[in-house]
Amino acid sequence: MLQELHLARDEAEAARRAAEQAAQSKSRFLAAASHDLRQPLQSLLLFAEVLSAGTLGDRERRTMASIERALGALKMLLDAILDISKLDAGITTVSLHDVSVREMLEHIEAEYAGRAAERRLGFRVVSCDAVVRTDPALFGRILRNLVENALRYTDRGRILVGCRRRGDRLVVQVSDTGIGIADDKQQEIFEEFVQVGNSERDREKGLGLGLAIVRRLSGLLGHPVAVRSILGRGATFTLEVPLVRPAAGAGDAAPVATERADAPDGARTVLIIDDDPIVLTGLVAMMANWGQRTLAATSCNDAVDQMESSGVVPDLILADYRLQAGETGLAAIDRVWGHAGWEVPAILLTGDTAPAVLRSAHARRLRLLHKPILPPELKRAIEETWSQAAE
Ligand SMILES: Nc1ncnc2c1ncn2[C@@H]1O[C@H](COP(=O)(O)OP(=O)(O)OP(=O)(O)O)[C@@H](O)[C@H]1O
Ligand SMILES: [Mg+2]
Repeated sequence: MLQELHLARDEAEAARRAAEQAAQSKSRFLAAASHDLRQPLQSLLLFAEVLSAGTLGDRERRTMASIERALGALKMLLDAILDISKLDAGITTVSLHDVSVREMLEHIEAEYAGRAAERRLGFRVVSCDAVVRTDPALFGRILRNLVENALRYTDRGRILVGCRRRGDRLVVQVSDTGIGIADDKQQEIFEEFVQVGNSERDREKGLGLGLAIVRRLSGLLGHPVAVRSILGRGATFTLEVPLVRPAAGAGDAAPVATERADAPDGARTVLIIDDDPIVLTGLVAMMANWGQRTLAATSCNDAVDQMESSGVVPDLILADYRLQAGETGLAAIDRVWGHAGWEVPAILLTGDTAPAVLRSAHARRLRLLHKPILPPELKRAIEETWSQAAE
Protein backbone atom coordinates (compact mmCIF):
# COMPACT_ATOMS: atom_id res chain seq x y z
CA MET A 1 0.00 0.00 0.00
CA LEU A 2 2.70 2.41 1.08
CA GLN A 3 4.75 1.41 -1.92
CA GLU A 4 1.82 2.11 -4.24
CA LEU A 5 1.42 5.52 -2.69
CA HIS A 6 5.11 6.28 -3.23
CA LEU A 7 4.84 5.13 -6.81
CA ALA A 8 1.81 7.31 -7.44
CA ARG A 9 3.56 10.30 -5.88
CA ASP A 10 6.66 9.79 -8.07
CA GLU A 11 4.48 9.54 -11.16
CA ALA A 12 2.65 12.72 -10.28
CA GLU A 13 5.95 14.51 -9.70
CA ALA A 14 7.32 13.28 -13.06
CA ALA A 15 4.16 14.46 -14.82
CA ARG A 16 4.43 17.88 -13.18
CA ARG A 17 8.06 18.22 -14.30
CA ALA A 18 7.20 17.18 -17.85
CA ALA A 19 4.41 19.77 -17.98
CA GLU A 20 6.76 22.46 -16.69
CA GLN A 21 9.36 21.57 -19.30
CA ALA A 22 6.76 21.64 -22.06
CA ALA A 23 5.67 25.12 -20.97
CA GLN A 24 9.28 26.33 -20.93
CA SER A 25 10.12 24.98 -24.34
CA LYS A 26 6.96 26.58 -25.70
CA SER A 27 8.08 29.92 -24.27
CA ARG A 28 11.54 29.48 -25.83
CA PHE A 29 10.01 28.52 -29.16
CA LEU A 30 7.84 31.62 -29.19
CA ALA A 31 10.82 33.84 -28.39
CA ALA A 32 12.98 32.22 -31.08
CA ALA A 33 10.29 32.25 -33.76
CA SER A 34 9.42 35.87 -33.21
CA HIS A 35 13.11 36.79 -33.27
CA ASP A 36 13.75 35.11 -36.61
CA LEU A 37 10.63 36.58 -38.19
CA ARG A 38 11.30 40.06 -36.89
CA GLN A 39 14.64 40.41 -38.71
CA PRO A 40 13.40 40.13 -42.31
CA LEU A 41 10.24 42.04 -41.48
CA GLN A 42 12.36 44.90 -40.15
CA SER A 43 14.24 45.13 -43.46
CA LEU A 44 10.98 45.09 -45.40
CA LEU A 45 9.56 47.93 -43.32
CA LEU A 46 12.68 50.03 -43.89
CA PHE A 47 12.78 49.42 -47.63
CA ALA A 48 9.07 50.12 -47.95
CA GLU A 49 9.61 53.46 -46.20
CA VAL A 50 12.50 54.35 -48.50
CA LEU A 51 10.49 53.35 -51.60
CA SER A 52 7.37 55.24 -50.65
CA ALA A 53 9.40 58.40 -49.99
CA GLY A 54 10.46 58.37 -53.65
CA THR A 55 8.36 59.52 -56.61
CA LEU A 56 5.83 56.90 -57.58
CA GLY A 57 3.12 56.62 -60.22
CA ASP A 58 -0.51 56.00 -59.27
CA ARG A 59 -0.33 52.27 -59.70
CA GLU A 60 2.87 51.89 -57.76
CA ARG A 61 1.50 54.05 -54.97
CA ARG A 62 -1.56 51.81 -54.65
CA THR A 63 0.62 48.69 -54.61
CA MET A 64 2.88 50.30 -52.03
CA ALA A 65 -0.16 51.01 -49.86
CA SER A 66 -1.16 47.33 -50.04
CA ILE A 67 2.36 46.24 -49.15
CA GLU A 68 2.36 48.57 -46.18
CA ARG A 69 -1.02 47.25 -45.00
CA ALA A 70 0.20 43.65 -45.22
CA LEU A 71 3.38 44.52 -43.35
CA GLY A 72 1.33 46.29 -40.70
CA ALA A 73 -0.79 43.15 -40.19
CA LEU A 74 2.31 41.00 -39.91
CA LYS A 75 3.77 43.36 -37.36
CA MET A 76 0.58 43.17 -35.30
CA LEU A 77 0.81 39.40 -35.16
CA LEU A 78 4.43 39.50 -34.05
CA ASP A 79 3.60 42.13 -31.44
CA ALA A 80 1.01 39.75 -29.97
CA ILE A 81 3.69 37.06 -29.64
CA LEU A 82 5.99 39.59 -28.01
CA ASP A 83 3.22 40.55 -25.55
CA ILE A 84 2.94 36.92 -24.50
CA SER A 85 6.71 36.51 -24.10
CA LYS A 86 6.86 39.64 -21.97
CA LEU A 87 4.00 38.49 -19.79
CA ASP A 88 5.68 35.09 -19.37
CA ALA A 89 9.02 36.72 -18.55
CA GLY A 90 7.31 38.53 -15.68
CA ILE A 91 8.52 42.00 -16.69
CA THR A 92 5.17 43.55 -17.48
CA THR A 93 4.73 46.04 -14.67
CA VAL A 94 1.35 46.78 -13.19
CA SER A 95 0.61 50.34 -12.17
CA LEU A 96 -2.68 50.63 -10.32
CA HIS A 97 -4.82 53.77 -10.42
CA ASP A 98 -8.34 54.80 -9.53
CA VAL A 99 -9.91 54.69 -12.95
CA SER A 100 -13.21 56.17 -14.09
CA VAL A 101 -15.16 53.45 -15.87
CA ARG A 102 -17.10 56.05 -17.83
CA GLU A 103 -13.89 57.46 -19.33
CA MET A 104 -12.57 54.00 -20.21
CA LEU A 105 -15.79 52.99 -21.90
CA GLU A 106 -16.04 56.28 -23.78
CA HIS A 107 -12.67 55.49 -25.37
CA ILE A 108 -13.87 52.02 -26.32
CA GLU A 109 -17.03 53.43 -27.84
CA ALA A 110 -15.15 56.03 -29.87
CA GLU A 111 -12.73 53.39 -31.09
CA TYR A 112 -15.17 50.72 -32.20
CA ALA A 113 -18.53 52.36 -33.01
CA GLY A 114 -17.37 53.09 -36.57
CA ARG A 115 -16.22 49.57 -37.23
CA ALA A 116 -19.45 48.11 -35.87
CA ALA A 117 -21.48 50.44 -38.11
CA GLU A 118 -19.42 49.40 -41.15
CA ARG A 119 -20.37 45.82 -40.40
CA ARG A 120 -24.01 46.83 -39.81
CA LEU A 121 -23.90 45.70 -36.22
CA GLY A 122 -25.53 47.47 -33.32
CA PHE A 123 -22.99 48.74 -30.79
CA ARG A 124 -24.15 49.95 -27.41
CA VAL A 125 -22.08 50.99 -24.44
CA VAL A 126 -24.00 51.29 -21.17
CA SER A 127 -21.70 53.12 -18.83
CA CYS A 128 -21.82 53.87 -15.11
CA ASP A 129 -20.20 56.27 -12.66
CA ALA A 130 -18.12 53.64 -10.87
CA VAL A 131 -14.44 54.12 -10.09
CA VAL A 132 -12.34 50.95 -10.17
CA ARG A 133 -8.84 50.08 -9.03
CA THR A 134 -6.86 48.80 -11.99
CA ASP A 135 -4.02 49.42 -14.42
CA PRO A 136 -5.79 51.46 -17.09
CA ALA A 137 -3.50 50.36 -19.95
CA LEU A 138 -3.72 46.64 -19.18
CA PHE A 139 -7.43 46.81 -18.37
CA GLY A 140 -7.92 48.56 -21.73
CA ARG A 141 -6.04 45.79 -23.49
CA ILE A 142 -8.32 43.16 -22.01
CA LEU A 143 -11.43 45.09 -23.03
CA ARG A 144 -10.14 45.74 -26.56
CA ASN A 145 -9.38 42.06 -27.08
CA LEU A 146 -12.89 41.14 -25.98
CA VAL A 147 -14.54 43.77 -28.16
CA GLU A 148 -12.35 42.82 -31.17
CA ASN A 149 -13.54 39.24 -30.75
CA ALA A 150 -17.18 40.23 -30.41
CA LEU A 151 -16.87 42.17 -33.68
CA ARG A 152 -15.03 39.38 -35.46
CA TYR A 153 -17.36 36.58 -34.43
CA THR A 154 -20.70 38.35 -34.94
CA ASP A 155 -22.32 38.56 -38.37
CA ARG A 156 -25.58 40.14 -37.37
CA GLY A 157 -27.26 41.60 -34.35
CA ARG A 158 -25.48 43.68 -31.76
CA ILE A 159 -22.63 44.06 -29.35
CA LEU A 160 -23.21 45.37 -25.87
CA VAL A 161 -20.60 46.62 -23.44
CA GLY A 162 -22.04 47.16 -19.99
CA CYS A 163 -21.33 47.07 -16.28
CA ARG A 164 -23.06 46.23 -13.03
CA ARG A 165 -22.09 46.22 -9.36
CA ARG A 166 -21.71 42.96 -7.49
CA GLY A 167 -20.78 43.59 -3.87
CA ASP A 168 -17.44 45.37 -3.76
CA ARG A 169 -16.72 44.53 -7.38
CA LEU A 170 -17.78 45.84 -10.74
CA VAL A 171 -18.60 43.30 -13.44
CA VAL A 172 -17.78 44.66 -16.88
CA GLN A 173 -19.33 42.63 -19.64
CA VAL A 174 -18.98 42.35 -23.39
CA SER A 175 -21.78 40.41 -25.05
CA ASP A 176 -22.60 39.68 -28.64
CA THR A 177 -25.23 37.90 -30.73
CA GLY A 178 -22.63 36.05 -32.79
CA ILE A 179 -21.73 32.46 -33.52
CA GLY A 180 -21.18 31.51 -29.88
CA ILE A 181 -18.84 28.90 -28.42
CA ALA A 182 -19.67 25.24 -27.70
CA ASP A 183 -19.54 24.19 -24.03
CA ASP A 184 -16.53 21.94 -24.50
CA LYS A 185 -14.49 24.74 -26.11
CA GLN A 186 -15.10 27.44 -23.54
CA GLN A 187 -11.95 26.73 -21.55
CA GLU A 188 -9.75 25.77 -24.50
CA ILE A 189 -10.15 29.11 -26.28
CA PHE A 190 -8.01 30.73 -23.57
CA GLU A 191 -5.02 28.61 -24.66
CA GLU A 192 -2.49 30.00 -27.14
CA PHE A 193 -3.22 29.40 -30.83
CA VAL A 194 -6.61 27.81 -30.19
CA GLN A 195 -9.20 28.98 -32.72
CA VAL A 196 -12.48 27.17 -33.11
CA GLY A 197 -13.43 28.15 -36.65
CA ASN A 198 -10.09 28.57 -38.39
CA SER A 199 -8.78 25.11 -39.16
CA GLU A 200 -7.33 26.44 -42.42
CA ARG A 201 -5.24 28.80 -40.24
CA ASP A 202 -5.95 31.84 -42.36
CA ARG A 203 -3.75 34.56 -40.79
CA GLU A 204 -6.20 37.28 -41.82
CA LYS A 205 -8.36 35.71 -39.11
CA GLY A 206 -5.76 36.25 -36.41
CA LEU A 207 -3.46 33.94 -34.55
CA GLY A 208 -5.54 32.76 -31.64
CA LEU A 209 -3.53 34.78 -29.12
CA GLY A 210 -6.06 37.41 -28.01
CA LEU A 211 -7.64 35.38 -25.22
CA ALA A 212 -4.29 33.88 -24.19
CA ILE A 213 -3.16 37.47 -23.55
CA VAL A 214 -6.46 38.22 -21.78
CA ARG A 215 -5.97 35.21 -19.50
CA ARG A 216 -2.45 36.29 -18.53
CA LEU A 217 -3.46 39.90 -17.96
CA SER A 218 -6.45 38.80 -15.90
CA GLY A 219 -4.11 36.73 -13.71
CA LEU A 220 -1.62 39.59 -13.40
CA LEU A 221 -4.27 42.11 -12.38
CA GLY A 222 -6.33 39.69 -10.30
CA HIS A 223 -9.46 40.48 -12.33
CA PRO A 224 -11.24 37.14 -12.98
CA VAL A 225 -12.50 36.60 -16.53
CA ALA A 226 -15.36 34.25 -17.38
CA VAL A 227 -17.38 33.28 -20.43
CA ARG A 228 -20.97 32.17 -20.92
CA SER A 229 -22.24 31.15 -24.31
CA ILE A 230 -24.73 29.03 -26.20
CA LEU A 231 -23.53 27.81 -29.58
CA GLY A 232 -25.19 29.83 -32.32
CA ARG A 233 -26.70 32.31 -29.87
CA GLY A 234 -23.84 34.62 -28.96
CA ALA A 235 -21.34 34.92 -26.15
CA THR A 236 -20.84 37.00 -23.01
CA PHE A 237 -17.41 37.60 -21.51
CA THR A 238 -17.21 39.15 -18.04
CA LEU A 239 -14.39 40.80 -16.18
CA GLU A 240 -14.52 41.49 -12.42
CA VAL A 241 -12.73 44.58 -11.14
CA PRO A 242 -12.50 45.88 -7.55
CA LEU A 243 -14.57 49.00 -6.92
CA VAL A 244 -13.15 52.07 -5.21
CA ARG A 245 -15.39 53.65 -2.57
CA PRO A 246 -17.51 56.41 -4.14
CA ALA A 247 -15.72 59.18 -2.19
CA ALA A 248 -12.52 58.74 -4.18
CA GLY A 249 -12.13 60.92 -7.24
CA ALA A 250 -11.25 59.66 -10.66
CA GLY A 251 -8.69 62.40 -11.02
CA ASP A 252 -5.50 60.50 -11.76
CA ALA A 253 -7.00 58.10 -14.23
CA ALA A 254 -5.77 59.60 -17.45
CA PRO A 255 -2.60 57.99 -18.71
CA VAL A 256 0.19 60.50 -19.06
CA ALA A 257 0.82 61.30 -22.69
CA THR A 258 4.43 61.52 -23.68
CA GLU A 259 5.50 64.88 -25.02
CA ARG A 260 6.48 64.85 -28.62
CA ALA A 261 9.93 66.32 -29.04
CA ASP A 262 10.47 68.68 -31.92
CA ALA A 263 12.60 67.38 -34.75
CA PRO A 264 16.20 68.23 -34.04
CA ASP A 265 17.54 70.97 -36.25
CA GLY A 266 20.73 70.39 -38.13
CA ALA A 267 22.13 67.01 -39.01
CA ARG A 268 23.57 64.88 -36.25
CA THR A 269 25.51 61.70 -36.57
CA VAL A 270 23.96 58.36 -35.76
CA LEU A 271 26.25 55.37 -35.33
CA ILE A 272 24.37 52.30 -36.50
CA ILE A 273 25.66 48.89 -35.42
CA ASP A 274 24.02 45.84 -37.00
CA ASP A 275 25.61 42.67 -38.32
CA ASP A 276 22.88 42.09 -40.89
CA PRO A 277 24.01 44.03 -43.99
CA ILE A 278 20.47 44.33 -45.37
CA VAL A 279 19.11 45.86 -42.18
CA LEU A 280 22.19 48.09 -41.93
CA THR A 281 21.74 49.39 -45.50
CA GLY A 282 18.06 49.97 -44.84
CA LEU A 283 18.74 51.95 -41.67
CA VAL A 284 21.44 54.06 -43.30
CA ALA A 285 19.14 54.87 -46.23
CA MET A 286 16.35 55.85 -43.89
CA MET A 287 18.54 58.08 -41.69
CA ALA A 288 19.80 59.80 -44.82
CA ASN A 289 16.18 60.39 -45.83
CA TRP A 290 15.61 62.01 -42.45
CA GLY A 291 18.61 64.27 -43.00
CA GLN A 292 20.94 62.61 -40.46
CA ARG A 293 24.57 61.72 -41.03
CA THR A 294 25.50 58.13 -40.31
CA LEU A 295 28.37 55.89 -39.40
CA ALA A 296 27.70 52.23 -40.14
CA ALA A 297 29.39 49.34 -38.35
CA THR A 298 28.88 45.60 -38.18
CA SER A 299 30.73 44.78 -34.93
CA CYS A 300 32.24 46.29 -31.78
CA ASN A 301 35.69 46.70 -33.39
CA ASP A 302 34.22 48.09 -36.56
CA ALA A 303 32.30 50.70 -34.53
CA VAL A 304 35.51 51.97 -32.93
CA ASP A 305 37.29 51.89 -36.32
CA GLN A 306 34.53 53.97 -37.86
CA MET A 307 34.82 56.57 -35.12
CA GLU A 308 38.61 56.72 -35.46
CA SER A 309 38.71 56.94 -39.23
CA SER A 310 36.01 59.61 -39.43
CA GLY A 311 37.17 61.47 -36.34
CA VAL A 312 33.50 61.86 -35.40
CA VAL A 313 31.91 61.10 -32.04
CA PRO A 314 28.32 60.12 -32.78
CA ASP A 315 25.34 61.89 -31.22
CA LEU A 316 23.44 58.64 -30.93
CA ILE A 317 24.14 54.91 -31.03
CA LEU A 318 21.57 52.63 -32.57
CA ALA A 319 22.72 49.07 -31.92
CA ASP A 320 21.24 45.70 -32.71
CA TYR A 321 21.28 43.41 -29.69
CA ARG A 322 22.53 40.20 -31.22
CA LEU A 323 25.74 40.66 -33.21
CA GLN A 324 28.01 38.08 -34.75
CA ALA A 325 30.64 36.02 -32.89
CA GLY A 326 28.66 36.17 -29.67
CA GLU A 327 28.98 39.95 -29.39
CA THR A 328 26.03 41.94 -28.16
CA GLY A 329 24.79 45.47 -28.75
CA LEU A 330 25.30 46.12 -25.02
CA ALA A 331 29.03 45.34 -25.36
CA ALA A 332 29.21 47.54 -28.46
CA ILE A 333 27.59 50.44 -26.62
CA ASP A 334 30.11 50.00 -23.78
CA ARG A 335 33.02 50.07 -26.22
CA VAL A 336 31.77 53.24 -27.89
CA TRP A 337 31.20 54.89 -24.49
CA GLY A 338 34.73 53.98 -23.48
CA HIS A 339 36.14 55.38 -26.69
CA ALA A 340 34.04 58.55 -26.69
CA GLY A 341 34.74 59.23 -23.03
CA TRP A 342 31.07 59.87 -22.25
CA GLU A 343 27.76 58.03 -22.33
CA VAL A 344 26.49 58.81 -25.82
CA PRO A 345 22.69 58.40 -25.88
CA ALA A 346 21.91 54.91 -27.14
CA ILE A 347 19.02 52.81 -28.35
CA LEU A 348 19.14 49.04 -28.39
CA LEU A 349 17.19 47.33 -31.15
CA THR A 350 16.27 43.72 -30.68
CA GLY A 351 14.34 40.99 -32.36
CA ASP A 352 14.76 39.01 -29.20
CA THR A 353 11.89 38.37 -26.88
CA ALA A 354 13.91 36.06 -24.64
CA PRO A 355 13.23 37.00 -21.02
CA ALA A 356 16.94 37.29 -20.12
CA VAL A 357 17.61 39.88 -22.83
CA LEU A 358 14.59 41.94 -21.88
CA ARG A 359 15.67 41.92 -18.25
CA SER A 360 19.30 42.87 -18.85
CA ALA A 361 18.39 45.85 -21.03
CA HIS A 362 15.81 46.83 -18.43
CA ALA A 363 18.46 46.70 -15.70
CA ARG A 364 20.73 49.02 -17.72
CA ARG A 365 17.89 51.51 -18.22
CA LEU A 366 18.63 51.48 -21.93
CA ARG A 367 15.92 52.39 -24.35
CA LEU A 368 14.94 49.09 -25.92
CA LEU A 369 13.01 48.88 -29.17
CA HIS A 370 11.60 45.69 -30.58
CA LYS A 371 12.02 44.73 -34.19
CA PRO A 372 10.19 45.11 -36.35
CA ILE A 373 9.81 48.77 -35.54
CA LEU A 374 7.86 51.08 -37.82
CA PRO A 375 9.90 54.00 -39.16
CA PRO A 376 7.74 56.66 -37.47
CA GLU A 377 8.17 54.86 -34.11
CA LEU A 378 11.93 54.77 -34.59
CA LYS A 379 11.99 58.44 -35.50
CA ARG A 380 9.98 59.33 -32.41
CA ALA A 381 12.25 57.19 -30.19
CA ILE A 382 15.34 58.93 -31.56
CA GLU A 383 13.84 62.38 -31.03
CA GLU A 384 12.79 61.48 -27.50
CA THR A 385 16.21 60.10 -26.67
CA TRP A 386 17.81 63.34 -27.83
CA SER A 387 15.41 65.55 -25.97
CA GLN A 388 15.92 63.53 -22.77
CA ALA A 389 19.67 63.75 -23.18
CA ALA A 390 19.37 67.53 -23.53
CA GLU A 391 17.53 67.88 -20.20
N1 LIG B 1 -17.06 36.53 -28.89
C1 LIG B 1 -16.76 35.33 -29.43
N2 LIG B 1 -17.72 34.61 -30.08
C2 LIG B 1 -17.43 33.40 -30.60
N3 LIG B 1 -16.23 32.81 -30.56
C3 LIG B 1 -15.24 33.48 -29.93
C4 LIG B 1 -15.45 34.76 -29.34
N4 LIG B 1 -14.30 35.16 -28.79
C5 LIG B 1 -13.40 34.19 -29.04
N5 LIG B 1 -13.96 33.17 -29.73
C6 LIG B 1 -13.31 31.92 -30.15
O1 LIG B 1 -12.13 31.77 -29.41
C7 LIG B 1 -11.00 31.67 -30.27
C8 LIG B 1 -9.78 32.29 -29.63
O2 LIG B 1 -9.93 33.70 -29.51
P1 LIG B 1 -8.63 34.62 -29.50
O3 LIG B 1 -9.06 36.02 -29.28
O4 LIG B 1 -7.68 34.02 -28.55
O5 LIG B 1 -8.03 34.42 -30.95
P2 LIG B 1 -8.49 35.02 -32.35
O6 LIG B 1 -9.52 36.09 -32.16
O7 LIG B 1 -8.87 33.87 -33.21
O8 LIG B 1 -7.14 35.63 -32.93
P3 LIG B 1 -6.34 36.93 -32.34
O9 LIG B 1 -7.09 37.42 -31.14
O10 LIG B 1 -4.98 36.40 -32.02
O11 LIG B 1 -6.35 37.90 -33.45
C9 LIG B 1 -11.43 32.35 -31.55
O12 LIG B 1 -10.71 31.89 -32.67
C10 LIG B 1 -12.90 31.94 -31.62
O13 LIG B 1 -13.01 30.65 -32.14
MG1 LIG C 1 -9.08 37.67 -30.75
